[in-house]
Amino acid sequence: MTVLNNKVAIITGASSGIGRAAALLFARMGAAVIVGARRQAELDKLVAQIQQEGGRAAAIAGDVRQESYAKSLVDFAEREFGGLDIAFNNAGTMGEMGPTHQVSAAGWQDTLDTNLNSAFFGAKYQIPAMLKRGGGSLIFTSTFVGHTVGFPGAAAYAASKAGLNGLTQALATEFGAQGIRVNAILPGGTATPMAHEMNHTPEAMAHTASLHALKRLAQPEEIAQAALFLASDASSFMTGSSMLVDGGVSVNRT
Ligand SMILES: NC(=O)c1ccc[n+]([C@@H]2O[C@H](COP(=O)([O-])OP(=O)(O)OC[C@H]3O[C@@H](n4cnc5c(N)ncnc54)[C@H](OP(=O)(O)O)[C@@H]3O)[C@@H](O)[C@H]2O)c1
Repeated sequence: MTVLNNKVAIITGASSGIGRAAALLFARMGAAVIVGARRQAELDKLVAQIQQEGGRAAAIAGDVRQESYAKSLVDFAEREFGGLDIAFNNAGTMGEMGPTHQVSAAGWQDTLDTNLNSAFFGAKYQIPAMLKRGGGSLIFTSTFVGHTVGFPGAAAYAASKAGLNGLTQALATEFGAQGIRVNAILPGGTATPMAHEMNHTPEAMAHTASLHALKRLAQPEEIAQAALFLASDASSFMTGSSMLVDGGVSVNRT
């Protein structure tokens, strides 16, 4: 018996990084996983790996900025796996970076569409499905940026992720009585393609690592463990939390 036996989970942003690690972990813990992102080929490889390990998985490629994609993920979960218990809404982008007065309106909008509107679309379809099951766990991937620390040049990213923390609290209070728990994970720097996009040189990467109390970045598998905790009954009394899993970057001053 593993902790997610008989559970059905949607995981977005599963073509790489944190989402991919979570999909592998959730499947190993017994869940049937529906993995989402835009890159079909990466999702197909992930599904093949999970199936090879004896797990249950299916890929639905699409763009989280589209409301119809959120619906199609939930429709698939209900049609093929009988319902939905867990949604790890994890897809995200750094988006257009730079001095805020130079950020384009289109860039700002795209970051909000990808990081925040996607979460609303997800919840809009995931919650009714979870209500049919008598409860569930929604998880959003936020960040410490804009929560405990301000970073120059990341206004749209910080604003979109702070929006997720507010959405988490609103949904937790709206649906707690009906057994739906809603939490956000706030990772620190994590060794994924996104971190490499931000840190172009070994020196930049070393500097980012040094900002953390643990003096390193997380591996995506370490953030996936936090998602597993929030997905499972191990966190049965947690809702409305913005949970730091940040290697101490929020408290470090050395
Ligand atoms: N890495 C860090 O240091 C760090 C720290 C704090 C928080 N986070 C958050 O962690 C989450 C996962 O990021 P990661 O670090 O694992 O980076 P990653 O490896 O670059 O993964 C990002 C994922 O999001 C998907 N995605 C992006 N835009 C999408 C769209 N429009 N539609 C569908 N899928 C989309 C990507 O898939 P496709 O390209 O295939 O669509 C990919 O699977 C993000 O929300 C990020 O903001 C990361």
